[in-house]
Amino acid sequence: MGSFIMDKFVINGGKPLNGTVRISGAKNSTLALMPAALLSSGVFHLRNTPVLRDVNTMAALLRTMGMGVELNEHVLTLNTTGVDRYEAPYEHVKKMRASIYVLGPLLARYGRAKVSLPGGCAWGPRPVNLHIEAIRKLGAEVDLKEGYIIAKAGRLNGARIHFDISSVGATGNTLMAAVLARGTTVIENAAIEPEITQLAEFLITMGARINGAGTSRLEIEGVDILHAADIETIPDRIEAGTFLVAGALGRGTVTLTGVRPAHLAAVMAKLEDAGAHLTIGPDTVTLKAPPELRPVDVTANIYPGFPTDMQAQWTALMAVANGTSVVTDSIYFDRFKHIPEMIRLGADIEVKDNAAIIRGTHHLAGAKVMSTDLRASASLILAGLVAEGVTEVLRVYHLDRGYEGIEKKIRALGADIERVAGEEF
Ligand code: EPZ
Repeated sequence: MGSFIMDKFVINGGKPLNGTVRISGAKNSTLALMPAALLSSGVFHLRNTPVLRDVNTMAALLRTMGMGVELNEHVLTLNTTGVDRYEAPYEHVKKMRASIYVLGPLLARYGRAKVSLPGGCAWGPRPVNLHIEAIRKLGAEVDLKEGYIIAKAGRLNGARIHFDISSVGATGNTLMAAVLARGTTVIENAAIEPEITQLAEFLITMGARINGAGTSRLEIEGVDILHAADIETIPDRIEAGTFLVAGALGRGTVTLTGVRPAHLAAVMAKLEDAGAHLTIGPDTVTLKAPPELRPVDVTANIYPGFPTDMQAQWTALMAVANGTSVVTDSIYFDRFKHIPEMIRLGADIEVKDNAAIIRGTHHLAGAKVMSTDLRASASLILAGLVAEGVTEVLRVYHLDRGYEGIEKKIRALGADIERVAGEEF
């Protein structure tokens, strides 16, 4: 994906949605599993890898370090026998914050890392102080110089780390740093998102000693060496949640396959409160849309709470509900960049502090709207599916970062949506 293509989606709204959609592997799991391979020399296979812009970005970064990365029919092959550079340049990191995940493994395996600070994102500051504090506690010397984290250490030493905030990224980095440390590390208030639990399981498959995977207290007994391993990436619960919301908006019946229903509990509970009927199978969920949507408040929180990565999509749903609801985000206080664009489609929404007050309306009308970030753009697509007339969602490269062939999947459900190639620059 060399040049920047400003594709747009053109949606002719109001079509009922019916049918089956297969959910891809999880972006946020893949982006942690790929750097974990830096912890050992060998050949790894990640099955069920999604074809996404962010996976390409991580692949490009790891290749600069000497890693062989090949994606073939959703199987990612990583060859780490040639890794010989320990730097994540700004040019890569500025494209994707998750690049910071190379910090822990590089430090643990090679005793040094030079990683660009990620900087801000579309919806405000997203500091990495917890990552830095944790590696310092494990004994690393860390300098911040010219926008880079420069870290070095002999062998890291186990330590007790208590996070003030439950952070997905900081937990992942600390876990990957601690598996090769001398002695035992305890992480308290660790994140328990499914993507972190899968990372812990993957590290255990590589020979790591970790107790408490899936809980907020992780105990890691460092080992001298790890080996290569294979894994099947879990399904993407945020892509699944996005399609369930599309189903609830689509006045029909939609079935998701290849999902982990347990990971969707919070979203499914709210959809039932809004009136949807759900049938849950071992790896499927069928949603029958209600004739009318009830207004339902949500507060985005850490797992297993309602995910912040679903709050924009929920806003789109509530924009056409029968009444007023409030969407609050307790993780990111300013993740409401989609609201002015939704108002362009006729939504009646007011933002106060970290909450959106949504007065549902039965009538959205198509317009040109601008994507600002991954989940915001998903919410604009959802709103465009119910808006009367034509909606143009501009700058969909944001979507390609985290949704594999979203327009094809939605079209297969009966939507009238088309990707229109824009000018190249
Ligand atoms: C992960 O980001 C996800 N990204 C995000 O998904 C998701 O929104 C987020 O977790 C929360 O669930 C990936 O997994 C690649 P955090 P991460 O560290 O790790 C504060 C998407 O749409 N914090 O759990 O960056 C932070 O500002 C993306 O797929 C610090 O203050 O999130 C936030 O308020 C967007 N200092 C809170 O913690 C730190 O050092 C949670 O952030 C780290 C975090």
